[in-house]
Amino acid sequence: MSHINTNQQRKFYLKTLGCQMNEHDSEVIAGILARLGYVQTEECTEADLILYNTCSVRENPERKVYGQITSLKQLKDKNPGLLIGICGCMPQQKEELEKLLARLPHVDLIFGTHNIHRLPELLERAQTEERVVEVWDDSQEVVEDLPAIRANKFKAFVNVIYGCNNFCSYCVVPYTRGRERSRSPKDILKEVRRLADEGYKEVTLLGQNVNTYGADLDEKTSFAELLSLINDVPGVERIRFTTSHPKDMQDELIEAIANLPKVCEHLHLPVQTGSDRILKLMNRHYTSAYYLDLVAKIREAVPEINLTTDLIVGFPGETEEDFQDTLRLVEAVRFSSAFTFIYSPRPGTPAAKMADQVPEDVKKERVYRLIDLQNRISLEYMQAQLGKTEEVLVDELAAKTGELSGRTRTNKQVLFSGPSDLLGKLVQVKITEAKTWSLRGVMA
Ligand code: SAH
Ligand code: SF4
Ligand code: F3S
Repeated sequence: MSHINTNQQRKFYLKTLGCQMNEHDSEVIAGILARLGYVQTEECTEADLILYNTCSVRENPERKVYGQITSLKQLKDKNPGLLIGICGCMPQQKEELEKLLARLPHVDLIFGTHNIHRLPELLERAQTEERVVEVWDDSQEVVEDLPAIRANKFKAFVNVIYGCNNFCSYCVVPYTRGRERSRSPKDILKEVRRLADEGYKEVTLLGQNVNTYGADLDEKTSFAELLSLINDVPGVERIRFTTSHPKDMQDELIEAIANLPKVCEHLHLPVQTGSDRILKLMNRHYTSAYYLDLVAKIREAVPEINLTTDLIVGFPGETEEDFQDTLRLVEAVRFSSAFTFIYSPRPGTPAAKMADQVPEDVKKERVYRLIDLQNRISLEYMQAQLGKTEEVLVDELAAKTGELSGRTRTNKQVLFSGPSDLLGKLVQVKITEAKTWSLRGVMA
């Protein structure tokens, strides 16, 4: 009754910030909303429900939320039936939640990362109540059998472990996602089998640290064992996973990458910094020497492996000498690509309280130098692919050129011309052109 749009189908606009966990949570949210009869729209002006799935990992994505939701006030004035909601990582922190409530009074619905499955009831209440706020501190158990509308028809995200126990000193994720909880192998396999039946060719197993998968289960199953179980599912052609913490990278997992045919030759192994002093302050539990040894061991077992990483510059107390250590490590490892982040102090984390915060202009100057170096190495990596013939899973049409777009087993994007019925197929492509971020080729 309170809703304006009763005759037409109700529409939702969903904005997602942050990591793959959030992307997949949004796929679940879209699935739940579809069951409630909503359809998705890309235009927030025609929506009955606008939902922001937020990220707290750095200040920028948070600032975006305040800016964009403030400007939605106008829409709300025109359409009083419009519901505006915020979910994801921002409401999970008490202080941020208070700030959201105070600064965005026109928001109708707020929930967190642990109670997405409660959306139908919360939405129902939001139709009549002034403002519905429900955020849980942690999850007791994993909720199964939620629907999902996935962004891609051929590759799918599959959660294997929720939460994080690592408390890296700069990071907010353990506070927003709670403690580690593994899904049971049975539930994961059920989902993967269903995906295979639906025609999905590739699964990406998700966790903040997949390497500790299974440690919390009654029937212990290691991540390598899980990979082996999934490798046996017919129809699945490729298995990927992210993220791996270097400290937990066991030999058993390296062997699994080397031996299981469907597990792809790509490893995202965030190193964060090359300085041992900073690694310690970050609470990462390894040294640069350990990391370099690990990389050598992985490359020996899987010579064609593509290594990518995350790097933070300007952690508190980082000196020019520390930063040089990072440049040296990047030169030594030669990652094919890296996400480079400027350190962003997060309220409530130990690093935010450390002395010697690095001035903004120094951080910027360092990140540009690091990006320059990495871009050079990335281009060299890509140029070394010229002339090779690679298996590509065609997963979409390139928006600009209409070419086929897909990824190699090593996770490099390849564009090439061909008929659109190759979507979802594995195709051999000869690489003829290399750019820093993508390759171009011809069907072999
Ligand atoms: N669990 C994953 C990634 C979590 S967040 C892992 O441990 O690898 C993704 C990346 O964001 C991190 O790897 C880190 O490089 C970066 N990051 C996290 N907190 C940050 C902060 N406060 N400032 C800048 N970058 C940060
Ligand atoms: Fe954050 Fe560290 Fe956990 Fe990754 S491992 S989510 S960086 S605390
Ligand atoms: Fe951001 Fe939350 Fe992911 S803070 S990086 S969306 S776990």
